[in-house]
Amino acid sequence: MQRNILITGGAGFIGSHVVRLFVNKYPNYQIYNLDELTYAGNLANLKDIEQKPNYHFIKADIIDFESILNIFREKQICGVIHLAAESHVDRSIKDPFTFAKTNVLGTLSLLQASKICWENNKDTRFYHISTDEVYGALEMNTDLFTEETKYSPHSPYSASKASSDHFVRAFYDTYELNTVISNCSNNYGPYQFPEKLIPLFINNIVNEKPLPVYGKGENVRDWLFVEDHARAIDLIFHKGQTGETYNIGGSNEWKNIDLIKELIKITDELLHRPKGYSEKLIIYVTDRAGHDLRYAIDSTKLQRELGWQPQQDFQTNLRLTVEWYLQNSDWLNNVTSGEYLNYYKTMYNEIYEN
Ligand code: NAD
Ligand code: DAU
Repeated sequence: MQRNILITGGAGFIGSHVVRLFVNKYPNYQIYNLDELTYAGNLANLKDIEQKPNYHFIKADIIDFESILNIFREKQICGVIHLAAESHVDRSIKDPFTFAKTNVLGTLSLLQASKICWENNKDTRFYHISTDEVYGALEMNTDLFTEETKYSPHSPYSASKASSDHFVRAFYDTYELNTVISNCSNNYGPYQFPEKLIPLFINNIVNEKPLPVYGKGENVRDWLFVEDHARAIDLIFHKGQTGETYNIGGSNEWKNIDLIKELIKITDELLHRPKGYSEKLIIYVTDRAGHDLRYAIDSTKLQRELGWQPQQDFQTNLRLTVEWYLQNSDWLNNVTSGEYLNYYKTMYNEIYEN
């Protein structure tokens, strides 16, 4: 069956993996990748599929409601997988307004266009991709986040994502829009913008630059390979229950400092450096404001109801990820020049002034 699917944020990290999966797996679907190409969006992430006949790129801002409505009408969109967002916590601390605009108003604009265009069409779905950060922070060695955990966002980023989740639920409750939401833990893998922990630290190890560990490095994250997330998104989009929420996680908790030492081990080995060579690059810097102590996801519901399981083990995928960044230095150099370089220098001024 032909379906016209709009994937927002498809030029970003997770979005590019989702677009690739859908374009290759569903030749009968027309996939419209809608992206404003902010600093985080990069069409080079999709070079391998850009010539496929069922792939289309649209440069647009999700906040621009009139343009979004026109695109829905013109392309007869009947499904949305919404990933476009401002996604970096540190940036949200510096500039919360941009996060409210993109993540809240942008989501509202897509919801409203869906509501208007789908009134007489039952074969539709609005799938909103969210984060485990909406649940707040866990103590060490206690429970996991379930779909029932109360929302308690702490950063401007997570507050904006929580707000967008509430709007999605409101459109389901009020207008019976066919919605589904998933909340995922930390992703890693190829094409992640190198402001996030794993690609930033690989890049700095390669270039022998400082590795800025926030606080004492005691915070815990639950890491999931991005392709496992993309497969979960495929399942939930097609088989998830309307109005439901699904948690997605790797059951793979790491203290930051342990993960950093593991990254150093793998990267040094692949660069033929002596064991432990890059540990001297670790520096402890001022903690992130409002830094959530621990995230950990219970994804039993997704496993039980839709049969999802992460494939392969963490060690294999982490090594594969490091290899990818080492083999794609052009990609890294490209995205770490220009506007990003200025941002990074401001963020870590004290490091670069030494
Ligand atoms: P990313 O920052 O790599 O990509 C975001 C994309 O959205 C970019 O291509 C950017 O150009 C686009 N975009 C931003 N503002 C836009 C606008 N106004 N209009 C149109 N496009 C715009 O993000 P990511 O890490 O791939 O995250 C994707 C989604 O998944 C986000 O909604 C994020 O909250 C969620 N998420 C991310 C993670 C993670 O670990 N990265 C985990 C759970 C959930
Ligand atoms: O949990 C899902 C979330 O994971 C997503 O919703 C976000 O979009 C994504 O950015 C990610 O958020 P985090 O804040 O957990 O990711 P980040 O890579 O920024 O940081 C991971 C951990 O590493 C966190 O505890 C902060 C720490 N850190 C990060 C950076 C960039 C450092 O110690 N030093 C650093 O330089």
